[in-house]
Amino acid sequence: MDIFVVQGGQKLKGSITVGGAKNAAVAIIPAAILSGDICRIENLPTISDVEVISKILVQLGAKVKRISSSVIEIDSRELNSTQVSQELARNMRASYYMLGALLGRFGHARVPMPGGCYFGVRPIDQHLKGFEALGAKTGLRDGIISLTAKDGLKGACVPLDVVSVGATINIMLAAVRAKGLTVIEHAAKEPHIVDLANFLNSMGADVRGAGTDVIKIRGVSKMHGATYSIIPDQIEAGTYMIAAAATGGDITIKNVTPKHMESISKKLMEMGVEIYEYDDSMRITRSGPLKACNVTTMPHPGFPTDMQPQMAAAMSIAKGVSSITEGVWENRFQYVEELKKLGVNAEVQGRVAKFTGVEKLIGNHVKATDLRGGAAMVIAALIAEGETYIREIYHIERGYEQLIDKLVGVGAVIDRRTVPDDFYSEKTGKPDGCNADCGCN
Ligand code: EPU
Repeated sequence: MDIFVVQGGQKLKGSITVGGAKNAAVAIIPAAILSGDICRIENLPTISDVEVISKILVQLGAKVKRISSSVIEIDSRELNSTQVSQELARNMRASYYMLGALLGRFGHARVPMPGGCYFGVRPIDQHLKGFEALGAKTGLRDGIISLTAKDGLKGACVPLDVVSVGATINIMLAAVRAKGLTVIEHAAKEPHIVDLANFLNSMGADVRGAGTDVIKIRGVSKMHGATYSIIPDQIEAGTYMIAAAATGGDITIKNVTPKHMESISKKLMEMGVEIYEYDDSMRITRSGPLKACNVTTMPHPGFPTDMQPQMAAAMSIAKGVSSITEGVWENRFQYVEELKKLGVNAEVQGRVAKFTGVEKLIGNHVKATDLRGGAAMVIAALIAEGETYIREIYHIERGYEQLIDKLVGVGAVIDRRTVPDDFYSEKTGKPDGCNADCGCN
């Protein structure tokens, strides 16, 4: 297995360029098949989730050509299968966007239940409610979701019971080629919802209101290929902002949309961090101590749930008691137990975690419990004295492109090491005994 070895204590300095948004990319790639034509997608992040969703298209009969590390061309003219394989679907959450995309193009789809990070139950009832409102029959057997709209899809009003990014996207995908008008009420407003709407419109769709809580989609009978560049990744940018703040560094983040960062910038400024905004870059620097603050995660434009673990890493050394109230997921604090191994003073009660700032963190062996929890381990390891060993890094690599290269570029000392699969004891989470290479002595 591969692990990250982080030598903490460096103040990050320099500049980092953010890649394309993961959660936009994993919706836009499936959306491309609605054109039945050739689409060129630019500013894609080089992450494993993009690889997997591209492989799904290939498995269904599309041609996916890599033009460069951040550009692909999708030719879906001959895509002819509507059944996604178990193996690929279970690798990621966004495989369920194939439901909306295949239903929209062919009127039927069979997609296994998706994988992705575990934050408690992750229901898909709102997606199914939307598909049914548009006239599809839904079924679930042996872990496979099936959709059929024998008489075609018809526009309808879909009032969502919870604000769901995934359901909003899936209903948009299904509705763009349905007959008539679809109205999604209580729609999610995240930047990647707007990005998807812009991409769909560039292929000839008629989607209005994305970015507000009412999205109106007038179905069109035909769509066409397009060239489209994905927005910068809000969460990747936010993660580096917090890494700069936590290490007392000074970094400039390039290829960022400052407007998307407002809720994160506001909290960091409250903590004593200085932030300068430019057109498409931001400078983050801290010279004084970090101050405690309280964060409640909410759907956009609130503070993003995907930033709370990274924020926890910064709170761990902030003067006073900070708190995070998780307003989106039932259980997103698994990472806290790992942070404690580095000396973080934290207490979790239900959806609230409290962090009492400590003077310093000390390196140890930890694991990435999920994608953003893994990012929190990296930030905490950058602050910690000595070496930190982070395992299960595949979670991190699902969503952060060239994380090591980018951090090393601003002065971090991190490398990726391969250790035998049985290197860690399941019981202790540490190497059995001590040897010269493990570094735990
Ligand atoms: N929900 C339902 N029923 C549904 C769908 C959602 O009750 O049918 C509930 C969920 O249980 C949750 C809330 O609604 O409590 C919000 O879930 P949402 O559907 O918005 O989440 P998602 O679409 O599954 C996406 C991102 C997540 C991010 C959330 C919230 C992707 C691929 N995933 O998940 O990103 O946390 O929105 O912003 O876009 C990440 O990138 O690390 C990540 C986990």
